[in-house]
Amino acid sequence: MKGQLNKQKILVIGGSKYLGLAIAQQASEAGAEVIIGARNLEQASQAAAQLPKASAIHIDIAEESTIAAAASQLGHIDHVVITASAHHNVPVKALEHDKIVAAFEAKVIGPMLLAKHFAPILSPGGSILLFSGVAAWKPSPGYAVMGVTNGAVSFLVSHLAKELAPIRVNAISPGITDSGTWNTLGEQNKKELLEGAASSSLVGRSGTADDIADTAIWLLGAGNVSGETIHVEGGARHV
Ligand SMILES: NC(=O)c1ccc[n+]([C@@H]2O[C@H](COP(=O)([O-])OP(=O)(O)OC[C@H]3O[C@@H](n4cnc5c(N)ncnc54)[C@H](OP(=O)(O)O)[C@@H]3O)[C@@H](O)[C@H]2O)c1
Repeated sequence: MKGQLNKQKILVIGGSKYLGLAIAQQASEAGAEVIIGARNLEQASQAAAQLPKASAIHIDIAEESTIAAAASQLGHIDHVVITASAHHNVPVKALEHDKIVAAFEAKVIGPMLLAKHFAPILSPGGSILLFSGVAAWKPSPGYAVMGVTNGAVSFLVSHLAKELAPIRVNAISPGITDSGTWNTLGEQNKKELLEGAASSSLVGRSGTADDIADTAIWLLGAGNVSGETIHVEGGARHV
């Protein structure tokens, strides 16, 4: 990995924690200048302070004005990674309009507006990397919003890749991954979730942050890959 992303300037929105932070760390180890974008500038600055050549910027993917301001402040960038999501995992009978909209803003509408403001400042060999997720391909009660937003991301990358070429646009679709986000479930529930994911995969284990960060670093440099969703879920769709 060392030196693979030398002289590349990479913005990671959602980079102050979880998968975004793991990607920011690996990109930095690979030689990139990393900019951590987050709603909370203090958290982004704290994460950036741990990395060489890193800085922080305020971006709320649900607020177009912050996306436009960041593009104008940065002026030029090679790659943008967006890990933002807003969960609304409830049965259909409990769906709330504003939370559905927030989920689409984080994963679909925000990235569209990001493409609008960042395509003009991305280098021709650059790329945009979005996040889908296995829930799109594994319908399950309580996960309609997550499934549909993740599915929309997969369609979005092919449309953006066509229109913005030669800028490349791809997505990673993780399976259940121990990124830190599941810690909110409590130790026992998280253990059960990860064990369930392991038994419903082909490889007998759940995902790690390194699985995803390794794939992200590869995709940023994969000059012949565009419009694709790369599934990093141990074959869970096939079980
Ligand atoms: N971990 C898994 O098992 C898994 C499985 C399938 C798919 N995925 C997808 O992978 C991506 C990353 O997941 P994760 O595990 O790292 O956890 P996550 O909890 O989905 O992380 C979301 C990140 O986005 C940031 N964020 C949320 N809303 C934002 C907004 N409006 N503007 C800017 N940043 C925002 C969050 O920071 P703040 O809230 O502090 O602002 C956090 O850094 C997500 O898209 C998720 O859906 C994850």
